[in-house]
This record gives sequence, C-alpha cells and structure tokens, in this order.
Amino acid sequence: MADNKTPSLMDKMASLCKRRGFIFPSSEIYGGIQGFWDYGPLGVELKNNIKKEWWKKMVYGREDVVGIDAAIIMNPQVWKASGHLEALVDPLVECKICHTRVRADNEEAIKAHENEHKDEKAQWTEAKSFNLMTEVYLGVTEPKQKAYLRGEITQGVFVNFENIVSSSRVAIPFGIAQIGKAFRNEITPGNFTFRSREFEQMELEYFVKPDEEKSRETFEYFKKLRMDWYVSLGIKSENLRFRDHADDERAHYARYATDIQYNSPFGWQEFEGIHHRGEYDLKNHKLSYQDKETGEKYIPWVIETSGGVDRATLFFLLDSYYGDDKRVVLKLDPKLAPYKVAIFPLLANKPELVEKAKEIYLRLKREFNTVFDDRGNIGKRYFAQDEIGTPWCITVDFDTLKDGAVTVRDRDSAKQERVGIDKLNEWFQEKLKD
Ligand code: GAP
Repeated sequence: MADNKTPSLMDKMASLCKRRGFIFPSSEIYGGIQGFWDYGPLGVELKNNIKKEWWKKMVYGREDVVGIDAAIIMNPQVWKASGHLEALVDPLVECKICHTRVRADNEEAIKAHENEHKDEKAQWTEAKSFNLMTEVYLGVTEPKQKAYLRGEITQGVFVNFENIVSSSRVAIPFGIAQIGKAFRNEITPGNFTFRSREFEQMELEYFVKPDEEKSRETFEYFKKLRMDWYVSLGIKSENLRFRDHADDERAHYARYATDIQYNSPFGWQEFEGIHHRGEYDLKNHKLSYQDKETGEKYIPWVIETSGGVDRATLFFLLDSYYGDDKRVVLKLDPKLAPYKVAIFPLLANKPELVEKAKEIYLRLKREFNTVFDDRGNIGKRYFAQDEIGTPWCITVDFDTLKDGAVTVRDRDSAKQERVGIDKLNEWFQEKLKD
C-alpha cells in the first residue's frame, strides 16, 4: 500500500506526471517559470473531469444554483472595495545575511535557510507584509491603465449579483457557482502544483437571509456536502479532516471559516475553504437584495465553498497512487480517470484482430474517452494503463472474431469478464453511473 508519509511519493508523482503527460513545468524549454504549470493530454482530462463532477454536484444537481463565468480582469475599484489591495498579503521575514525572503509562518523554510548559513547564525528582520495581487498594464499608450489579474474568482460573482437577480428566476436562498483561474504573486510557490501563482478555483457563493443560527446551519450543511463529495470520488476519509480557522488567521472577509485538509506527504494541507463571509462583500460593493414577494430589502449573507482545482487534482493523484515492486496503479475513480477504456488487439501483427479492435475503438471513442494500443505485449499494455489509472482494458482475441465478445479486464481487481461487443456501451454506462 502506498504510504502517504513517504517523502519520495511527491518525487514519484512529479516524475509520473511528466513522463505520462499529466503535468509539465510551464515553458520548460526556457528553464521554466516558478509557480506555473502546464497540464498535458492526460492532466487536462483529469482536471476537466474534476470540474465536470463539481459542476454536476453543485449546479445541475440542485434547483437553487446558477452558474457564471466572469472576466479575469475587472475594474481595479473592485479590488479596493473588496479589501484585497490591502489585505491579500503574506508576512515575510528577510535574512539579514543574504536578504533572502521567506514566509514568516513557514517554520520549515526558515529552518532550512538557517541551515544554509553554517558558520554564521542567521538573523531575521521583523515580518513585513507583501501584497499578492498580480498587476497588469492595459492599453498601448502611456500612461497605461493599471489593473489586476483576479486574486480570487469570487468578486466576479458579487459584482454581477444584481445582473443575476434581475435576469434569472433566483430567490434567496440561492447560490452562484463559478470555476476559473485566479492569480497570486506567491512569494514561495512550491510542493509541485500545491502553491502556484496561477491556479483554478471552483466556488459556490450561497446567499442567505441574515440570521445567525440559520446561516450556521447552512455553513455546516455545505461543510458536510463538500467533504462528502471528495469521499464519494474516492479520497480515503482517513486522509481528510476539517480544521477551523483561529481568529488571527482568518481571511479579511470571513466571520468564521473551516478548511478541508488532506493528509499529504508534506503534512495536513488545505484544499478547500468553507467561509462565512456575512455581508462583507455585498456591503462593500453597496449592493443589496429586495424580496420579490414581500418587498423586504436587506443585504444577504454569504456562505462560500472555495476549492482549488489544481490542489484537488494533486490530492486525487496522490491518494490514488498504489505502488509495489511489480506495478504502479492510479486507483482513480473511473469518473475522474483520463481514459475510461483502453483497447488492444491480442497480437499487433494479425490484421484481422487490429481491424476489429480499431472498429470497436472508433465506436466507443464517441462516448467514452478511449485509447488504442498495440505496442509490446498485453502485460506491458496493462502496466502502462494501470499507471495512468485507466479502469478497463479490452482485449480483442481470436475468439472475438467468432463469438463477437471481448475480454474486459478491471484495473483494481484484475478480474476478466467476457462482454459482447454490442453490450459494451451499456456495460460502461452502467459502471460510470452516479
Ligand atoms: N474565495 C475564497 C478564496 O479564494 P482561499 O482559501 O484563499 O479562499 C481557496 O482559496 C482555495 O483556492 C484554496 O483552498 C486552495 O485550494 C486554492 N488556492 C489558493 N491559493 C492557491 C495557490 N497559490 N495555488 C494553488 N491553489 C490555491
């Protein structure tokens, strides 16, 4: 069984991700750029599947949620009103010997740096705050207009609050969902994709009538809903926990907050935050809500669920990793697996088998992401598919040509089953059913 505490699991994962086309360092041929990552052919499938499952649960699965897709760059006044220009900060300390800056709350990095100065004892400056908003300059003539890449996707929901209320049939309580890129000028990106400068978030902003007790119930409801979602998609529950934020660590907008944490090889780490944002944002943007039936006017409170797509991708990969001296398997939930099915002709030099396998491949490919492989022997092909988490492999053999059936091999149990070619679509649909 993969040991979550084995430090080298991160190295194994980063190497597998690069070798098999999940994740590459961004612009690698020029030496890369710290805090940026590119998702390859398998990574984009995994990430898209995570987003698809999230949207299914948080939007399509509910009657009270609508979605939006707001622009990444907004009027800079948004960020002044939201408090991010003042409060999206990291406290940094600076080494007095070599002027290296490290996050003041990162004890591990501070110790590691102190060990680099063997002869002299490193001394640190007082912590100073640095803003994480990424500046961009718009227009071609000077002075160019300064704007920001959004530091959280959330503000795009709030500034559209009135547009959505007036254009859709929503009434409080209701939610607005969004998935999209956010940017933070992180001082110390690291742990592979965990802390990046460009990343994706999947968020729900749920608007409720101000009420201390009821909003606490909504908060608890969404905590459970989000935790259950990760477990339903295969993350082992013993590797998940809630962690409440202490008063001095909460984001500037939060009345109270809880993280969903994962037991990663580099310790328990946040990958989703549930925040009670109260009236903070709508009030700052001078927005309110009028009940269409009673005419009552008030500023709604907001319960937010904010998950990182990249962190979820990383933790789904880590949690699914199984390795022994014989093989490596990503035991990803079939709904998340990049390929659902791999198809092999038993022998690559028998045109009748290749032709039949190709025919099935082209038919299945229309409905399920499917891959064809005729390299090496069957054992090697299974090995290669296990390593990228493909849940089912189909072999077309000489019997197929007579009985119209194929062998389907299950990734996790290694059990093999004969299934009629005309039943394959239904067979996979049934397996992938919610
Ligand atoms: N709208 C609320 C918000 O942005 P957050 O706790 O700052 O809250 C939410 O971020 C989620 O976004 C985190 O739980 C994490 O999964 C992801 N995230 C934040 N910063 C990140 C970074 N530098 N790299 C990757 N993911 C990040």
